[in-house]
Amino acid sequence: MTTEESIRSRKTLKLRANPDNPLPVTKGKDFKKTIEELIELAGKAPFHYESAKGQRSYKLIGNEPWRFHVLDGESCRIFLKALKQEKPMKAPEGIKQMLAASDALILATWLPERSRKLSRKFHPNLKNMEHIAATGAAIQNLILAATSRGVNAYWSSGGIIRKPKVLEFLGIPNHEILLGAVFLFPDEFPESVDTQSGMNADKRGEAGDFMDWIEVGENIQ
Ligand SMILES: Cc1cc2nc3c(=O)[nH]c(=O)nc-3n(C[C@H](O)[C@H](O)[C@H](O)COP(=O)(O)O)c2cc1C
Repeated sequence: MTTEESIRSRKTLKLRANPDNPLPVTKGKDFKKTIEELIELAGKAPFHYESAKGQRSYKLIGNEPWRFHVLDGESCRIFLKALKQEKPMKAPEGIKQMLAASDALILATWLPERSRKLSRKFHPNLKNMEHIAATGAAIQNLILAATSRGVNAYWSSGGIIRKPKVLEFLGIPNHEILLGAVFLFPDEFPESVDTQSGMNADKRGEAGDFMDWIEVGENIQ
């Protein structure tokens, strides 16, 4: 598949299975290798500023502004079990259904510049904006690479996964900010599994709806 073909054919597919009867995890080591390759490709995205050194965890020391934390299929089912226990993480049905169907969940975060305030919020400065942009580019690389390998993906904001308690449960450092919870779904599944395409997928217009040519005045000396 060429780059253009994967851009044109990429589309969201969400799968939902019964949380009380999740799909069996069939993908093993080979799929883990595929995910590592997808993340390597994600990491080819451009970035302008290095992540702030004091924000890097001892484990993940990369200069890049992004981090990818991955749950394989087994871990998705264990996470599902924890969410089903309600306390301390009451989760809506949707996420449980998707965790019951997913082959993997990739949590893409970015590292904000150090803030004086001890909260998860970040200053809306240029560096942080560019960290977010770079991480968005990395996530899109990952999804396009998944498309070209026939892997179904869905980029979600994360919903309940964004909650500090849930991130803590998953061992994600609390200053990292979740930008994308990317579900990877199987391409073969029983009929009982509910499928859904992405919201707004049919709202795309023509390029002319969101581009114009700037005509610079010729009388400017
Ligand atoms: C940053 C980001 C966050 C998103 N979060 C959600 C989400 O939480 N829920 C959702 O239904 N769609 C979400 N979407 C949109 C879907 O991933 C999808 O792209 C959209 O529904 C359009 O469908 P398509 O990918 O088939 O074009 C998000 C997209 C982006 C870029």
